[in-house]
Parts: sequence; C-alpha cells; structure tokens
Amino acid sequence: MEIIIKEDKELASVAAARVIARQVSEKPDSVLGLATGSTPLPLYRELIRMHREEGLDFSHVTTFNLDEYVGLEKEHPQSYHTFMWGNLFGEINISADKVHIPNGMAEDVPACCVSYEKAISEAGGIDIQLLGIGSDGHVGFNEQTSSFASRTRIKTLTQQTVVDNARFFDGDESQVPRHCITMGIGTIMDARMNILLGFGKGKSEALTATIEGPITSMVPASILQHHRSAKLFIDDDAASNLKLADYYRWVYEGKPEWQKNA
Ligand code: PGA
Repeated sequence: MEIIIKEDKELASVAAARVIARQVSEKPDSVLGLATGSTPLPLYRELIRMHREEGLDFSHVTTFNLDEYVGLEKEHPQSYHTFMWGNLFGEINISADKVHIPNGMAEDVPACCVSYEKAISEAGGIDIQLLGIGSDGHVGFNEQTSSFASRTRIKTLTQQTVVDNARFFDGDESQVPRHCITMGIGTIMDARMNILLGFGKGKSEALTATIEGPITSMVPASILQHHRSAKLFIDDDAASNLKLADYYRWVYEGKPEWQKNA
C-alpha cells in the first residue's frame, strides 16, 4: 500500500487526479472504475479542469461505476447516474456508450450483475479503480463482513450507511434505499490499480484500521493490503491516528516526480 498524506482534500485530490491523467494520456482507451459520494468531488473537478485547460481527452475512455441504489430511476436526483452526469460526465468529452453504471431498476437483478461483470471483462478489465471509504470501512457498498471473493451483486446497506447517506435525502433516513447493486470486493481487487480517497476526521478510524490493522472483513477496505498496486490519498485529518504517518510522509517526499504520478 502507498499512503499519500496531503494537507487537505484539495491537494490530495489533485495528486490523485495526476495519476489518472497520466493513465489516460498514456492509454487513451483506459478503463476507469469510478465512485460517487462527497469524497471524489474535488478529484472530478480537477479532471474537468484538466480536460478544459490541458486537453485531457476522455473520448476513448470506458468507465464502470462501483454501485447504484436499487429502486431509484436513473433520473432520480439522488441516483448515481444523476450524480455522475452532473459531476463529471456532463463536463468532459466521454462517450455515453462507454459509460457503465449498474441498473438499479433492473427486473432481473442477478442477471444484471452477471452482465456487469461480463462487460468489465470484455472491456479488458479495469485499469484504475477509484474508491471512497465508509466510516465503517466499506468500499463500494461492500459492507462489513462482505466476502473478499464477492462479485457484483445486490447488498443491503447497514443502518450506519443509511444514517450517513440520509444527508443526501433531506436528512430523511426513510428515503434512503435499503438495497444497492455493488461491485464485489473480488471485482475491486481485480483492478490493476486501486486509488482510495479518504478525507476528514470522520474517516480516520476506518483508515487507521484499513492501513495499520489486521486484514478482516469487519473492515472491508483492509483487503487492499493484499492489492499489488493500491494508493491511498488522504488528508491530515484522516491521517491523524496513523502510527506511521511521519514515515509515509517521508517516503512520499523522497520519491522522484515521475514516480509520484505513476
Ligand atoms: P462519502 O462516502 O464520500 O460520501 O463520504 C464514501 C463511501 O461511503 O464510500
């Protein structure tokens, strides 16, 4: 695992965006796994800036989002379709037929999950998967005790996730869907690189357990300790409980510039 600690989420997001930009520049038909939530917003803003000001070209890029709520129409203001088109896709030159987001209204959910996995593998697998982290350590919607071998499937959100996400539904927990379709942990682990973002004090406990604790399905993100290329971009607040924070800073500061963006 590579731990990159920056002063604030903006700086951490710019550093993570550079890694994605380098990937897309070197391989224009890259396959990106994308995430929703508050966390990736500054990174998406930076990618939009790079597209507008530096000509970063997404026209050949294929994307797969991590998850979607079950029971929300694509047009629902809180669907992840709406989120992605509003916060990234609508602002860059991505081709709509290369965008994949699980269909939360699928009549046959298991079949939809199988075809999602098939589409990922037919696209050649995911080059970089972007991840947030839940306050309970979830990645995607793989809640605590999710199998490390899991693939795209239906999951039930925990009460904590429902409480955390109620802020997007006017604070009304009863409006938050109870189920979602999410890539599995096995799907995420198949990505050639994982970039996890975590910001703020509210994520420090989950991140400390992920980085310095034992690998356990009670902290789903901890499986990234087993990933061959996992980069965690976090801010000072999120890093505040890490035992080896100074060591991670020292490692990153000593890297040559090319390696920081690789
Ligand atoms: P957040 O959610 O970015 O809105 O904090 C992250 C997650 O639940 O994975």
